[in-house]
Amino acid sequence: MVLKRMSDNSFIYDLKDKKGWIIGCFKEKNYYDSYLQLGKTSFVEPWSDPAVHYHTHAQELYIVLNGEMWISVGKDTILRVKEKGLLLVQPNVPHSVIGGKGKIQHIGIKVPHKEDKKINVRKNECTINEKSLQNYSQNSINSSKGYLADLNDQENQNCWLLGLGTAKYETKELCLAYMSYANENEMNKNEHDNSLHYHSKSSEWYLSIKGEQVLLVEEEQLTVPEGCLLKIPPMKAHKILSFSYPFEGFTMRTPIFLDDKVNLKTCKP
Ligand SMILES: [Fe+2]
Ligand SMILES: [Fe+2]
Repeated sequence: MVLKRMSDNSFIYDLKDKKGWIIGCFKEKNYYDSYLQLGKTSFVEPWSDPAVHYHTHAQELYIVLNGEMWISVGKDTILRVKEKGLLLVQPNVPHSVIGGKGKIQHIGIKVPHKEDKKINVRKNECTINEKSLQNYSQNSINSSKGYLADLNDQENQNCWLLGLGTAKYETKELCLAYMSYANENEMNKNEHDNSLHYHSKSSEWYLSIKGEQVLLVEEEQLTVPEGCLLKIPPMKAHKILSFSYPFEGFTMRTPIFLDDKVNLKTCKP
């Protein structure tokens, strides 16, 4: 459901009761985005994909918010993506969900997805239980296949985790930061530049997982409630005004251009 459509074409989406793929180029105009495909599950039983497959263009991200997902990547890697785990699978790398644990709540992202094709390689015949998983699973992955990051680790919080330049894991497709602030003091410690700016070519997305965030977009003050997602299109001036605490959320930007951010000076009288 589109919670709110602003005059400047920004959107706030209410994702709380949504499941499956929500944002993408296959949906109606309000949900259309040619770069970012985003979906979610909401406290479902573990599943396994019917086929091992790869994506011709898209990187695929699995962000596990609750429960645990078991995912095979390449020929010989099985990963446990635990609660607050993030797995990025590179294009052309065969992968499949092969099981999991608990009630799974996760966010799925594919980017860029307009040209992407999903190619099935073979039927998924991998069955595994938790006991055998202990022998086969790995804690890391070769960067040619993807990245596995633990969002509980403070080093992975409140910084660009994915992206170009200073980002911890390099991708040319999506900037992503996991924001986690227990209180205002923690937020103030963050050296993040929060001046008014716009992006000349890319859209920026703000997802509130716990608590809410308030942003200034052009002239409008927008609240992004828990479970909601804000899309800010290119050329729209914005900055974060405040959070409610404790706060957790994701900031994403796509497509990536290194010279894309333009800071705006406020004129003093
Ligand atoms: Fe996939
Ligand atoms: Fe921005």
